[in-house]
Amino acid sequence: MHINGQPWRTIWLESDQRSVGIIDQTKLPHLFATVRLRTAEDAAHAIRAMLVRGAPLIGAAAAWGIFLGLLADSSDAGLEAVCVRLLQARPTAVNLRWAVERMRHVLSPLMPEQRTDAARSEAAAVCEEDVQVNEAIGQHGLRLIEEQYRRTGQPVKILTHCNAGWLATVDWGTALAPVFKAQQAGIPLHVWVDETRPRNQGAQLTAWELASAGIEHRLIADNSGGWLMRQGQVDLCIVGTDRTTACGDVCNKIGTYLKALAAADNSVPFYVALPGSTIDWTLDDGMAIPIEERNEDEVLFVSGLTEDGQARRVRIAPEQTRAANPAFDVTPARLVTGLITERGICAASREGLRSLFPEHS
Ligand code: MRU
Repeated sequence: MHINGQPWRTIWLESDQRSVGIIDQTKLPHLFATVRLRTAEDAAHAIRAMLVRGAPLIGAAAAWGIFLGLLADSSDAGLEAVCVRLLQARPTAVNLRWAVERMRHVLSPLMPEQRTDAARSEAAAVCEEDVQVNEAIGQHGLRLIEEQYRRTGQPVKILTHCNAGWLATVDWGTALAPVFKAQQAGIPLHVWVDETRPRNQGAQLTAWELASAGIEHRLIADNSGGWLMRQGQVDLCIVGTDRTTACGDVCNKIGTYLKALAAADNSVPFYVALPGSTIDWTLDDGMAIPIEERNEDEVLFVSGLTEDGQARRVRIAPEQTRAANPAFDVTPARLVTGLITERGICAASREGLRSLFPEHS
């Protein structure tokens, strides 16, 4: 994607070939800053503290983290330690496990002195494939937007939750890839952006992406979507996912389930966009997915800029009030109209997924 006319990805190998650059997403939208990762611990910290976030980008960052770890120690013990370290960084997005297992599979049969070069190539391949896969998701999802536009001739009104745009991947995004493709196809759009409390990825990241791309959008409080659907103001919902089970249950940012309920009650199609790497073929029931419980301060405090441009963090609840902060929820497959993957669109069911990914039958 482009920022001020310059092409960017969210993660890249620096020219010294020994460090990795990322966009620090904790600073957006008020500051565009990059950070250089030099060690596996830098990569683990970037994932844990959400400098990088979004399921596909977490996987890409873990792949580069293994490369950085091997620069320091490419022995069998070093490889094992860095894989374990990164696997612990965040529990819910299965792309992390997918990327670590892919890297381990390629690297463990090699001699220690061969591993660094192989890790560099494999991490780069993980990133290149992510870009291609997301572009394909965009192309398949575009069909849905085109059909809606053909039916009504009106701007297509899409609601999305959290950030599943290019910042959540290496490039293109998942849920927003069809939106970017539709913009390129000249289809008029209106995107409703859930603010996505408590960390406000919608307000801070999705709104920034859409504004940078010049796509018409409105930020809405998380509680507004149901009412907008009742008023006929939403043609379709498209969200991302951190882990989708083999039966089509969808784990995504907290609040997704409520939007799916409202969509079902109002006959609004509810689509989930995902790369194959987000499918957990080992699980059938979404309720078995580990849900990350984050620090209660994310709920108790909000951060932003004051009117005179000062960054401030303020408490919004009484001193004695404690908060609960489950970061994800699970939407049962029965509430999902379809899954938009790089191989096409399928039903959110075992049969639907296996029709597109027969190698997992
Ligand atoms: O906690 P985050 O910001 O990593 O959560 C991200 C989401 O829930 C996204 O919707 C999901 O990862 C899909 S991203 C392509």
